Parts: sequence; C-alpha cells; structure tokens
Amino acid sequence: MQDRLQSLRERFDSEISSAADAAALVRIRAGYLSRKGGVLSQLLRTLKEVDPAQRPAVGDSLNSLKRYMEERLALAEDSLATSPVAQGLDVSLPGRMPPLGTAHPINQVRREIEEIFLEMGFSLAHGPEVETDYFNFVALNFPIDHPARDTQDTFYLEGGLLLRTHTSPVQIRTLKARKPPLKIIALGKVYRRDSDVSHSPMFHQVEGLAVAEGITFADLKGTVLTFARRIFRDDTQVRFRPSYFPFVEPGAEFDLSCVLCAGQGCATCKRSGWLEMGGAGMVHPEVLRLSGHDPQSVSGFAFGLGVDRIAMLKFGIDDIRLLFENDLRFLHQFPGS
Ligand code: PHE
Repeated sequence: MQDRLQSLRERFDSEISSAADAAALVRIRAGYLSRKGGVLSQLLRTLKEVDPAQRPAVGDSLNSLKRYMEERLALAEDSLATSPVAQGLDVSLPGRMPPLGTAHPINQVRREIEEIFLEMGFSLAHGPEVETDYFNFVALNFPIDHPARDTQDTFYLEGGLLLRTHTSPVQIRTLKARKPPLKIIALGKVYRRDSDVSHSPMFHQVEGLAVAEGITFADLKGTVLTFARRIFRDDTQVRFRPSYFPFVEPGAEFDLSCVLCAGQGCATCKRSGWLEMGGAGMVHPEVLRLSGHDPQSVSGFAFGLGVDRIAMLKFGIDDIRLLFENDLRFLHQFPGS
C-alpha cells in the first residue's frame, strides 16, 4: 500500500509541474481529490478493508498525502492566478526596442573637425568657459577701454569673471604652459549677447594655433585650405581679406567659396559666391612676449572659426537656434553614425 501511495505522489508531482493553465489544475484536482472519482477519495473508502492492525498507519499516510496534494494545488492555483500571463501578458508579442540616442549634429561635426586636425598633426587643447578678463582680453592685447572689447558683447559675471567670448584665451593658456614648436586646436563653447537666425548666445568655435621657428602666413593659408577641402568639397577655395584683431598682425578674415553653389551665387551665400568662415592672422609679437616667448626667434599663426556654421552648411540647417532647442523631432533628422 505504501508503495502505491508513493507512486501516486510521484505521478501527482509530475502532473502538477507540467500543468500549464488553470484548466489543467482543475483536471488534476478532480482526478485525485474529488469526492466521487478522485483516486484518493476512493482509496480512503477502501480503508475499512485494510487489516485492522495496519489501518491506523495507512489512514495516516492517506490523510497526509491528501493534505500534501491540497497544499500543492493551492500553491499552483495561486501562482497561476498572479502570473503575468494570467494578467494579460501576451508572450508572443515582439519585444520593444529601447529608444537609442544619436550624437548631436554639433558633436558629429566636432568629431570630424578634430579628426581632420589630428591627422594634420595638431593636438587638442582645452580651456575654461568661465574666464578672467586677463585671458579673454588683456593677454590677447585688448587694452582696457579698447573699443574692440565692445564688439564682443560680453556676459560679465561677478568677481571679475566673464563667459569667454571666443576660444582665443586657449592660445594664451597654451603659450604659457608649453614651449614651441606647438600646434593645437581648441574646440568649445563661447558666449556673446546676441540672438537671431544666425546668432545664438552660446555657440562653438575652433581655435587653431601653431608657433615655431619660421612659421609664415603661407602655413596659415595651407592649413585653412586643407581643412576646408576635407570638411567640405575638395574644390573649395579660400580667400583672405585684411581685417583687425588686436592679437594678430597682420590680421584677416577668411571666406570659403560657397559649398552649396560652388561659388556661382545662391541664396545661402547671398549671391556673393563666398561664405564667411572666421578670423585669422599671425600671432602678434606683443602676445608672444606677454606669454613669455621671444618674437625674434619664433612666429606663429592663429585662426578661429565657427563650428555651428559648418554644421548648418553640412546639414542644411537655416536657423542656428534650432541646434540648441533640443527638440527631438529636429534632432532625429540627423542620425549620424
Ligand atoms: N577670436 C576671434 C573672434 O572670435 C577670431 C580669431 C581667432 C581671429 C584667431 C584671429 C585669430 O572673433
């Protein structure tokens, strides 16, 4: 009898563990425990035929098996009722893709610009966005009260600090920290009080600086031209126009032949065939001297250009402010790589 009960328990266990739904549990419960057809109920009814000496022991075993089955059934019914499937989870549905971000168009262009200059032998330099008047102006040969300061529309902070208006202070930080020959670019955020379709109070510049023995304006032109041809098209032309920045002499602004119409004249270049790209020049002897270098033995060139402008041209964006509103409907149009 005990053997029979043991094999009954094993069969019950295996049926319970393979029961997939509530209907299966109902069938199992009926098969073992129902008053009429249940195997266990039938066995209990045959108890009176068992040898009276063994009857109490067999009765105990039967009752404990019955309790065991009831507990296991209750547990199984419980876990089925609270399972995600019972609560409506459809396991046959395909999984949901987590939303994947993409690099911001400015960062895509930033990487490209940095790669081009790194391949040309420049290294990366950095400076703080909160600057002192000294690094942003004085050391760059902007005398106090010089009218050129007014052109910079500076955000002044407390304690003599300001938000840098250009990346040129990195020139000074580099010149003070390193010995020529040196060749760096510094790409980052700059700030000016200005806002319209082509101006944002925060925008990005790349600064370039090369200082060594015998650097000439021809090196500057070659560097800018090589960069322009790599970032845009390889027939791009560059032109330099004389201009004034206190920290370079001679100073220039430079334009690229329009990358959209190849210089023919279109709406983007206002029919001129040229796009303004930035400022440049030969490092002013006074700047070299102020940061501890001898202008008799070394010379250098510097340039600064607008990163946002490059991104807008590459991606066909006509309002700079779109770049900084962080509207996902806009940003998703530039999935990049
Ligand atoms: N810092 C200048 C500006 O933002 C650009 C510049 C950089 C000019 C380097 C000359 C040399 O207007």
